[in-house]
Amino acid sequence: MGRSFPCLHGAEKTNVAIKLTMQSKAFITGVTGQDGSYLAEFLLGRGYAVHGLVRRASMFNRSRIEALRRDAEIYGKSFFLHYGDLQDATSLRRILAQVRPDEIYHLAGQSHVGLSFEIPEVTCNEVANATLGLLELVRDQPQPVRLFHASSSEIFGAPPTSPQTEDTPTRPRNPYGCAKAFATDLCRVYRDAYGLFVCNGIAFNHESPRRGENFVTRKISLAAARIKVGLQRELTLGNLEARRDWGYAPEYVEGMWRMLQQDSPDDYVLATGESSTIGEFLDAAFERVGLDWRACVKFDPRFVRPAEVAMLVGDYSKARRKLGWDPRTRMRALAHLMVDADLAAIAAEERRSDEPSAPARSSA
Ligand code: NAP
Ligand code: GDD
Repeated sequence: MGRSFPCLHGAEKTNVAIKLTMQSKAFITGVTGQDGSYLAEFLLGRGYAVHGLVRRASMFNRSRIEALRRDAEIYGKSFFLHYGDLQDATSLRRILAQVRPDEIYHLAGQSHVGLSFEIPEVTCNEVANATLGLLELVRDQPQPVRLFHASSSEIFGAPPTSPQTEDTPTRPRNPYGCAKAFATDLCRVYRDAYGLFVCNGIAFNHESPRRGENFVTRKISLAAARIKVGLQRELTLGNLEARRDWGYAPEYVEGMWRMLQQDSPDDYVLATGESSTIGEFLDAAFERVGLDWRACVKFDPRFVRPAEVAMLVGDYSKARRKLGWDPRTRMRALAHLMVDADLAAIAAEERRSDEPSAPARSSA
């Protein structure tokens, strides 16, 4: 992957030039995730120094930020990684004291809704309690800090009205949604009680070729590509009737940044305003490879959740009005770009495995 930072033009360029001389510092929790990796690129393109939190895993896990790590002009100069963990307040306190960020983007945490039924305590500790810990740390910072919190449409669960706005009551249907609702309310409380600059981005589903492979869109795009080239025969899925409001992740991280550039903190829905069923996403993905998904999709009850969120669709008119934010990519185009990216990745992998391997240097 090459460096592909957004182009800056005209008045925007002037603002960035001012920022560059002051070099704003951003700290991202979840920098190795889908959103964190796009956000890091976005902020670097705007002249920020970007600091990311990474955690130890038994397998090295930096694939989404590998291009930034390998770029000698960036890594160690404007892009920095710090070992820590959301559940280790000491490491977070030390990193914040060292970095002194102007903006914090809090994206980290267990983000799989289905798995939150299997590991509810980890989910609540990472999503809810860790946000509380971070808010307390932000209170203690000597410099002014702006905090973005990655809230979720899952806080609405079974909403009484549709589409959902910033004022729709929360009725979460799973441990993940409960934890996000708790964290979202705490952010509001800390904003009101202590005057902190904290924004909740209430994001509806956003996807990309960097989406984790156990989320439904990526599972589908990867399967469509693999079935097309003969690497896979079947795709097993759960409920195909649920409706989601699917947008494109790089556009959503720009919305996050815009929230922190306002004069005062607030909460904003980020969504496309359109919802589709899983079946409709399957149509869009498989049409890209000229196949009928009905011939290869099998139902597996293991992927059905104990309680389902049937229908989510967001009203992003406040974000459009106040932030000038508009999503450009809709579900069908999104499905196509994800399938194209998976086909390209498979082709690149096949080319690599066709290359003669270098002789081994040593047997050690
Ligand atoms: P993701 O790809 O699952 O990334 C999650 C990130 O959190 C990863 O970098 C992960 O690190 C990190 N993390 C998890 N537990 C951690 C811990 N204990 N300490 C430090 N880091 C930890 O999620 P995403 O799709 O980018 O979403 C970003 C945030 O937005 C999440 O909070 C998610 O719940 C929320 N959100 C997402 C969507 C969406 O549609 N994508 C919509 C609404 C809200 P590893 O790489 O080491 O696992
Ligand atoms: N993951 C998955 N795997 N979901 C499936 C499958 C399957 O095999 N089969 C059907 N589904 C259905 C789920 O039951 C759900 O209704 C829908 O597909 C979407 O599931 P996910 O892609 O896992 O996303 P999510 O909507 O539960 O959660 C995502 O969006 C939230 C915002 O609304 C995550 O990114 C959350 O972190 C985020 O907050």
